[in-house]
Amino acid sequence: MNYISIQNIDSLEKWVKEALKIKKKPLKNKTLGKNKTLGMLFFNSSLRTRLSTQKAALNLGMNIMVMNFTNEGWTLEFEDGAVMDSGASEHIKEAAAVVSQYCDIIAIRAFAGLIDREKDNAETVLSGFLKYATVPIINMESATGHPLQSLADAITMAEHTTAHRPKVVLTWAPHPKALPQAVANSFVEMMQLQEADFVITHPEGYELNREITKNSKIEYDQNKAFENADFIYAKNWSNYTDYGLITNSDPNWTVTTDKMKLTNNAKFMHCLPVRRNVIVMDEVLDSENSIVIEQATNRTYAVQLVLQKILESPPTPQGGTKTEKSKKIKK
Ligand code: CP
Repeated sequence: MNYISIQNIDSLEKWVKEALKIKKKPLKNKTLGKNKTLGMLFFNSSLRTRLSTQKAALNLGMNIMVMNFTNEGWTLEFEDGAVMDSGASEHIKEAAAVVSQYCDIIAIRAFAGLIDREKDNAETVLSGFLKYATVPIINMESATGHPLQSLADAITMAEHTTAHRPKVVLTWAPHPKALPQAVANSFVEMMQLQEADFVITHPEGYELNREITKNSKIEYDQNKAFENADFIYAKNWSNYTDYGLITNSDPNWTVTTDKMKLTNNAKFMHCLPVRRNVIVMDEVLDSENSIVIEQATNRTYAVQLVLQKILESPPTPQGGTKTEKSKKIKK
């Protein structure tokens, strides 16, 4: 079993319930991962993903190896048939096969480059490991998705369940750096599995990949979108059409106390790290309606559930009986 996308979840409701059980007794399965090794490969920075995944693996009794590929690993080549006479020292074919000799599960973080949309959509790094590794793979945020974050978000929202069908708003907010669409994409995919009135609000031209948003409601008037909302999830993403560019930095999209007053006393959510007084004003982030730390807390139980499910699933023989089809990214 791999955990690559929110689509790998057979029943979100069931997974959330199971994660909440783990949260109550995180050490219940403290020997499940004994003598198993989790390899964590980072092509980008992290705080929450790295520490929550390590914590979850420790809760299951696993060994952990962490490698920062950006400054520690050989530069990898991903193209089949490449003549490797320039920068790259090692092909993903050998790298993924070799890491699989040392690790029972490989977790990978590899963000979008935000230069070539097709290349990012092809998930070069994640797909390379899926193709050539012989052990299960976990997505710790790839070019197009962050399914561990959205599972944690679902767990957090379940802990703040409303008596009525909730209104959930994903709002774009400004940011000085061009950011990927991964978190927003996975949040949208997760919301499509929920019973909720879900609205995405962003400036015109900032549409996410329509293959992901599908029929989700889009409202360009942020104030209108906020009306009677129960959850406000703020996130910046760079332009998907003018790929990777910042074409809007309008501070009027920052989440303020006045905007939160339009809601139904909504909870404020963000995956973190967050730029204070750019994405959201201090007063909102520091208010009792802010549940961002709870989201970060639940990252541990989301990934612990994923690790547990992989450890409990039948092993894949070395050399791989996994077919190319079963290993492809499920989108
Ligand atoms: N939300 C999240 O993935 O945080 P990090 O980038 O710090 O891991």
